[in-house]
Amino acid sequence: MTEIPDYWQWFADARFGQFIHWGAYSQYGRGEQVLFRDHLDQNEYVSRACAWNPQQFDAMEWADVSRRAGMRYAVLTTRHHDGFCLWDSAHTDYSTAKQAAGRDFVAEYVEAFRAAGLRIGLYYSLADWRIPAYWEGPEHDPAGWERFRDYVHRQVEELLSNYGKIDLVWFDGAWPHSAERWGSYELIETMRALQPEILINNRLGKPETGTASADGGTGAGEMKELGDFGTPEHHITAETGRMWESCQVSTWRLWGYTAGEYWRPAELLLDMLVEAASKGGNLLLNVGPGPEGRYPDEYIIRAEVIGEWMERHGEAIYGSEPGEVCEFIASGRQTRKGNNLYLIVRFWGPTGEVTLGGLQTRVKRAVLLSTGEEVQFLQTDEHVTLTGLPIERPTELFPVIRLECEGPPEACDWAKDRLWGGDPRRMTPWAAARGTSVWADGRDR
Ligand code: GLC
Repeated sequence: MTEIPDYWQWFADARFGQFIHWGAYSQYGRGEQVLFRDHLDQNEYVSRACAWNPQQFDAMEWADVSRRAGMRYAVLTTRHHDGFCLWDSAHTDYSTAKQAAGRDFVAEYVEAFRAAGLRIGLYYSLADWRIPAYWEGPEHDPAGWERFRDYVHRQVEELLSNYGKIDLVWFDGAWPHSAERWGSYELIETMRALQPEILINNRLGKPETGTASADGGTGAGEMKELGDFGTPEHHITAETGRMWESCQVSTWRLWGYTAGEYWRPAELLLDMLVEAASKGGNLLLNVGPGPEGRYPDEYIIRAEVIGEWMERHGEAIYGSEPGEVCEFIASGRQTRKGNNLYLIVRFWGPTGEVTLGGLQTRVKRAVLLSTGEEVQFLQTDEHVTLTGLPIERPTELFPVIRLECEGPPEACDWAKDRLWGGDPRRMTPWAAARGTSVWADGRDR
């Protein structure tokens, strides 16, 4: 990982953020892209958007749920691909501020989340599906494109000028246009002039065909050469050379509110967070608040369960470094911080024992974070065996054991790579140690 400036350290340490997809589309209960996916009548959609007047939106309530879940930052959709703005924009009347609601939801969000101690992120869709020039592109409608692009730039400037310190901007919807067409490089310069410490994601342009990142990116335009952090979506894959954050839904695959949806269990959501941390990245976990402006109850329940776990076990997550030191997947996952290795145990067996193979560094002390109790252990060259653990799972979600080591935890040579990776020949002596007894003719092979 390349060095990051001090003022970005908060992002590397945070590990857990709140994604919020909320807009006029929430009224349809069919995800955030219902306008396109259902090929809705544009005029009907506009009238419904303009009439949208959520009565139960209380940004302080949202901030409270997100903070208690253990999240350290949030990202709100200030405008999605439908173009309807959640703030008081001087450049359009198509906003909650100028229409029925008469409120600047972005201002309310910023104020409440900042007061709750969370860092502030703003999602902004470059795409605006109402604008023909967006679909036509600059080759077919140069003047329209120019006007549209200017509108986009002015709005971003506005968001970075009127709401105090903004920590992060999360672009999306660059497809089908490249960073050059969007004027992304100039936009970034302006953004840094307005907010020198801002973090900008990697979706400011569809990579040009023929470049290395064109193949790796998605339609959303995940660029390799542009962006302070990567945004793997629906998957948790480490990026090298820059920070990254996996964005994930708490439901199935839509981001906006969807009526009748199934919810992922808390244990799965937590596992995604732990997986991201174990690989050195963040989890940006989404909620799609309902049309009236409330987080769905199913989400609140899960957020609370995760928050309780984070209170006791958060030290294994916040500020952690990539932690897959040894092979441990048959028991759970690992994170690492300084001289500590955290074992986040998924399978809590009836034996009262947990074993870790291949740790070279000596362990000085082991503590079960879930109860605060010290744990007895035995360490050989090959294994650390923790014993006398409670038979009953000591926490509803994953128990965590902190191994305090003599130095930064490291694996011995054979354990540096995972199964199906590394040099296979490192395992030859181990295989050879079996002896010959199973062969009928008794000969060594
Ligand atoms: C994709 C979706 C978009 C969503 C985003 C969040 O780009 O198309 O609707 O907002 O992912 O990562």
